[in-house]
Amino acid sequence: MFIKPLFLLALASVLETTLAWPFRHGHLDYSFSTLTTIPGTQTLENLAIRDNGDILVTSVSNNTLYLVSPQNPSPVVSVVDFPVLGLLGIAELGKDIFYVIGSDISGVAVAPGTNKVWKVDLTAFKSSNGAVIEPPDVSLVAKVPDAGTLNGMTVLDQYHLLLSDSQLGQVVELDVRTGQYSKFSNDATMAPLSSDDGNLGIGVNGIHIFGRKLYFTSLDQGLFASINLDCPTDPAEIIARDLGVADDFAFTNGGRTALIANNGPFTLTEVDISRESLRLINSTALQRASAVALSKGPGKTIYVTGAESTIGNDTIGRLAIGVPKH
Ligand SMILES: *[C@@H]1O[C@H](CO)[C@@H](O)[C@H](O)[C@H]1NC(C)=O
Ligand SMILES: *[C@@H]1O[C@H](CO)[C@@H](O)[C@H](O)[C@H]1NC(C)=O
Ligand SMILES: *[C@@H]1O[C@H](CO)[C@@H](O)[C@H](O)[C@H]1NC(C)=O
Repeated sequence: MFIKPLFLLALASVLETTLAWPFRHGHLDYSFSTLTTIPGTQTLENLAIRDNGDILVTSVSNNTLYLVSPQNPSPVVSVVDFPVLGLLGIAELGKDIFYVIGSDISGVAVAPGTNKVWKVDLTAFKSSNGAVIEPPDVSLVAKVPDAGTLNGMTVLDQYHLLLSDSQLGQVVELDVRTGQYSKFSNDATMAPLSSDDGNLGIGVNGIHIFGRKLYFTSLDQGLFASINLDCPTDPAEIIARDLGVADDFAFTNGGRTALIANNGPFTLTEVDISRESLRLINSTALQRASAVALSKGPGKTIYVTGAESTIGNDTIGRLAIGVPKH
């Protein structure tokens, strides 16, 4: 059975803070490079890491869920195809049980009524040389017909996921046993801004939990903020403003910092959560950075989904790797 180790995480964080006191706010610098590119995609959207270190990757421009092995990054494995145009957020709820959002998305627009969530059970999955030997067990968990643009996803507890709806500016809670869903929060900081003013019409985007808080980016408003999970209707606390295009993010440094993908300017923004201070990290490998994940295990390697320019104005989806410099 899967039990969310919230208490253990909190304890580990306290210990780390105590032991590593002089380095508490020490920043990590990374060397970025391309781990692999994925033909058939213009850009990559989101990612999740398996316990064995393999990386599951989605693209809004392709209906295939991909798997990349860091030790052996090509060929990329096409794990399974879904009956939609593109895939977005992905999260693991229980060892090797993943949930993924898909819809008929083109550009940033989702065709009304097409948002869905699938379960992908990789427990028995096997592949060899890029080919699937034992396919995953896949099932449709929920159609979410009244959603606008389901985008980011995170685990709330052993039976519930939270999904961001970037178009409706709210976070939805989904029970994976029944497929029932309901509004969890629609704080004003989650709302998109009017596209008449040149905005993309994207509100709440990346969502992740640390301790008893749900942290989120809000793209049009350029915000990084949090709400209290125990009182989700209380007003959000704004941690950082003016983030430009703030896409999905990952916690680093034991939850003291968040690395936010700035989809556009070849950068990540590192937010020191308690100091509310910002630092930009840049690299040519961070083109159209859309999401960040921390590797499993003791290393502090990170992976970033995005794109790489090809000929003309075309791009191909790229998975970048960031290794801490010593
Ligand atoms: C999706 O990618 C696969 C290769 O990974 C490619 O064969 C397929 O044509 C792509 N689909 C679209 C719609 O581009
Ligand atoms: C990163 O920032 C430095 C300092 O501002 C700049 O010199 C460099 O060109 C930037 N690199 C990229 C890839 O944007
Ligand atoms: C790339 O985009 C620019 C600006 O929109 C355009 O002028 C140019 O013709 C495009 N190049 C190609 C090869 O499509």
